[in-house]
Amino acid sequence: MNHSTFKQLTLALVAAISIFMVQCKNEKPPAENETPPAPAATISKAAYGTTPDGQAVDKFTMKNKQGMQVDVITYGGIITSWTAPDKAGNYANVVLGYDSLAQYLRATPYFGAIIGRYGNRIAKGKFSLDGKEYKLETNDGPNTLHGGVKGFDKVVWTASEQPVDNGAALKLTYVSKDGEGGYPGTLTSTVVYHLTDDNALEVSYEATTDKKTIVNLTQHSYFNLSGDFTKNILDHELTIDADKFLPVDATLIPTGELKPVENTPFDFRQPKTIGRDIEQKDDQLTKGKGYDHCWALNGQGFRKVSTAYHAGTGRLLEISTDEPGIQFYCGNFLDGTLPMPGGGTYAHRTGFCLETQHYPDSPNQSSFPTTTLAPGEKYATKTTFKFSTK
Ligand code: GLA
Repeated sequence: MNHSTFKQLTLALVAAISIFMVQCKNEKPPAENETPPAPAATISKAAYGTTPDGQAVDKFTMKNKQGMQVDVITYGGIITSWTAPDKAGNYANVVLGYDSLAQYLRATPYFGAIIGRYGNRIAKGKFSLDGKEYKLETNDGPNTLHGGVKGFDKVVWTASEQPVDNGAALKLTYVSKDGEGGYPGTLTSTVVYHLTDDNALEVSYEATTDKKTIVNLTQHSYFNLSGDFTKNILDHELTIDADKFLPVDATLIPTGELKPVENTPFDFRQPKTIGRDIEQKDDQLTKGKGYDHCWALNGQGFRKVSTAYHAGTGRLLEISTDEPGIQFYCGNFLDGTLPMPGGGTYAHRTGFCLETQHYPDSPNQSSFPTTTLAPGEKYATKTTFKFSTK
């Protein structure tokens, strides 16, 4: 082959390849009436304020493909807003909260917060490990509630975006010093909020320690699925998959008994409204001022344990967890004193919490599943909140 033939062949080949590529490109012209692909989930960050001791607080906003939006601040890992669609597809915020850091700093009944190092109550603020007694700060009458005076709901967490295939995720980390609040061991905790594209929020908790300690983390969102916080939650239909609940004493510490829910107002095995039995004459309802109890969940492993449904809007919330218990609290202490964004105040029972967790006071009740964590062990638990409509 002489030089010019080679050149001609090369040119012909280049021309053929170019034509082929153009054809490939034109093979699938975009159909004019084709719906554009759904926008990818996003996560963004904005400054939210500064704590009195000078720590910067950020707000992260996660939005999934469908439009569900979850706002999380690094103070307390608080979910300040969480939108969910009604049966007409309209998104509204369904969790109680505030619209400024100042209000969260002033007074909050744990709105939307991460709770730790020990969620729920520890009797008389003390417990023993390996024969050594530890004294905690008491902040609920004689008892310690939700970690103590400065629990994980009142600290600034370090946040980083987590890469995920489906939706958006935020990882929060907090290192609690040995002796903080009276608890032994340096506890490193991480909480990942993962908003999936099918309208679920997966909350994954992990913790490790350098000394034997106790841990029981949970999430304290107050839901009102109507999206209208001037209405109470008594019309929501609830299920809790539990044959037994934990009766409490006058200070809301479990007596140690696991009592069958059968023939009591505590039976939510079939859907019933929160309000149906709440005014019944019942010693436990009197002690809790309504429902403020832990249910001993049926089954083990990760399973669906509870549902809440608001017929008016069609919003359905399904909760799955690997935890043995769930504290159902129906906003009995909301008394019209806390301000609502946009005006007004949060009235009695305008939100309910479903806090998946180990049983209250486990460190002092040897018959309850253990909440002890030793060096070399990993605490890992997961709870999913899934929204849909029906
Ligand atoms: C928990 C407790 C309730 C109440 C709320 C916050 O859920 O069980 O008794 O203290 O927190 O007000």
